[in-house]
Amino acid sequence: VSGSEGPPASVRVRAAGGDYPVLVDPGILQDLPRLLEDHAPAHRYAVISDERVAGLYGRGVVEACRDRGMEADLFPFPEGEASKNRSEWARLTDRMLAAGLGRDSVVVAVGGGVTGDLAGFVAATYLRGVPVVQVPTSLVAMIDSSVGGKTGVDAAAGKNLVGAFHAPRVVVADPETIGTLARTERAQGLAEAVKHGAILDADYLDRLVADAAELMEADVAATHHAVVRSVELKADVVSRDEREGGLRQILNFGHTLGHAMEAASGYAVGHGTAVARGMVLEAELGERLGVTAGGTRSRLSEALEPFGLGGTLEADIPLDEALGYLVADKKTRGGRPRFVLLERVGAVTGDGGWSREVEPALVEAVLAEGLGQA
Ligand SMILES: NC(=O)c1ccc[n+]([C@@H]2O[C@H](COP(=O)([O-])OP(=O)(O)OC[C@H]3O[C@@H](n4cnc5c(N)ncnc54)[C@H](O)[C@@H]3O)[C@@H](O)[C@H]2O)c1
Ligand SMILES: [Zn+2]
Repeated sequence: VSGSEGPPASVRVRAAGGDYPVLVDPGILQDLPRLLEDHAPAHRYAVISDERVAGLYGRGVVEACRDRGMEADLFPFPEGEASKNRSEWARLTDRMLAAGLGRDSVVVAVGGGVTGDLAGFVAATYLRGVPVVQVPTSLVAMIDSSVGGKTGVDAAAGKNLVGAFHAPRVVVADPETIGTLARTERAQGLAEAVKHGAILDADYLDRLVADAAELMEADVAATHHAVVRSVELKADVVSRDEREGGLRQILNFGHTLGHAMEAASGYAVGHGTAVARGMVLEAELGERLGVTAGGTRSRLSEALEPFGLGGTLEADIPLDEALGYLVADKKTRGGRPRFVLLERVGAVTGDGGWSREVEPALVEAVLAEGLGQA
């Protein structure tokens, strides 16, 4: 039941701590124990998964490793973003210390983006750092979070505020695991795939739209293609700018307004849903500034439609609160939000850097219109 032809797609990512491959192939999870031995040899493996994914895949990974004579233990934690914090980090590291895991251990993060970020931060800090292998099982994790080396946890003051760069030894993505992921969760990841098309590859955006029904049904071949292309695009960007000083900022397209709306909704609106709306509104912003080609906004909202992400947000989001989050965003410089603007679908404008400030009155007008409060 393999949707692929030939060897697994392998994309290399360049990182300060060493290059790593991202392997994408249907069924590759069966090969994980061997891949761990090849890419991340260790005395013991700590497999970290949320409880749902532990039941679906994590336990099986531990058993397969043991069948091969490897020492592996499962460290499950409660599912959900609420676990991505310092308390859960403390519990996991304490349990690993109690189990006697030494410096010759490797953390294996099997799960979605929450697991990847939390387990990655555990690995970055455990005994001052042990290697991590990322095994993304959600589309968000495959398409976005498992590539780039960002790890971390949330704080009361905001999301992802405490963390570290800790590149994985290898990323192993099995598109077959998307079959058990909820449909609504698939759309959240596909929003970031649409973003990759919007900023870098118009043909990829067209292909995503053509494949939308299959992608929403977790068709293995369509999923495989999208994950590989998104990983190639993101890998190229983070290889050129690991620490977000320059080019990596383009990955924030749709995120300035998206984050503000997501936070102002009290996180009732999903990240992908908010970013989708953010991309449409930032395209509008670019069009009004005369930077973005006319028609880009409508093309983006049409592309998002088959994923259920093309319309207005259903949550009731007060404009004032969204504007407040806009200036409090950790990516703002001196309280001024910055925007990545498209030149057209498939290309970001690099004039004056990869992001720029925009006149507050214009931002407010576009956001007000976007929230139906103009
Ligand atoms: N580090 C980065 O660069 C980066 C980038 C993007 C997002 N993120 C982070 O990723 C997180 C969101 O990721 P997410 O959406 O994957 O959240 P998640 O890890 O909570 O997964 C979403 C839900 O899907 C379930 N799940 C995962 N894989 C499954 C599968 N194959 N079958 C059935 N259920 C499955 C999980 O148990 C969970 O309930 C956020 O915390 C975000 O900050 C990080
Ligand atoms: Zn995002």
